Amino acid sequence: METVVVLTGAGISAESGCNTFRDNNGLWRKHRVEEVASPYAWQHTPQLVMDFYNERRKKLFTAQPNAGHKALVKLESKYHVIIITQNVDDLHERAGSSHVLHLHGELKKVRSTIDPTLVYELDKWELKLGDLCEKGSQLRPHIVWFGEAVPMIEQAIEMAKKADHFIIIGTSMAVYPAASLINYIKRSVPMYYVDPNATSISDSNLQIIKEKAGVGVPLLVELLLNG
Ligand code: OAD
Repeated sequence: METVVVLTGAGISAESGCNTFRDNNGLWRKHRVEEVASPYAWQHTPQLVMDFYNERRKKLFTAQPNAGHKALVKLESKYHVIIITQNVDDLHERAGSSHVLHLHGELKKVRSTIDPTLVYELDKWELKLGDLCEKGSQLRPHIVWFGEAVPMIEQAIEMAKKADHFIIIGTSMAVYPAASLINYIKRSVPMYYVDPNATSISDSNLQIIKEKAGVGVPLLVELLLNG
């Protein structure tokens, strides 16, 4: 069975009602990254950080996977599909994808501030100051903040090297190390980029599909299943 590696970004969840970051109505147009998504912010204004992630978590509880997420599940009937996502939502999992690696953490999880191995599922949307881990320290969002290491990148690189097909969906490819994954794809491997604002990010085998994920991903999946 051939392996399809998929790199997704905020754009795949846009049609589910989750905001992207750098589009006109994106989150980084309304919030300063360093004020809500950095270790410095957590140290100095933790309530602001909590509020930012609580608001997004609350939205996620009512968001539903869209046609883009669902189409990727269908691809598993013919391929070994590995999804590497920059997204912190769980919409790939809820759509039914079997192998999902979160590069930037998971919104519905929280972790201890003194022992990073203590990670918990949060069954409510609100994390509060005073919510403690079993060792008595404050819980924080299980998110990779700016300036923090990306622990899953090594695993993602190993997956990228194994790709027989590589698909990029709904990402500006502006954030590293995620964007560097294309450097690990074998040159002969066909690459596809589904994004209304996709640009030519590689000189090899790249096919650009300038569509929203809800339209472009089902089209591409049909092509890969029947082509
Ligand atoms: P960006 O906001 O940078 O890019 C979103 C991409 O989605 C853009 O290229 C849009 O053109 C595209 N897009 C918008 N609507 C779409 C749709 N309906 N279908 C398909 N594509 C659509 O978001 P990311 O590239 O995901 O990190 O950003 C990467 C990282 O930067 C995020 O994981 C986050 C952020 O800072 C952290 O918070 C650590």
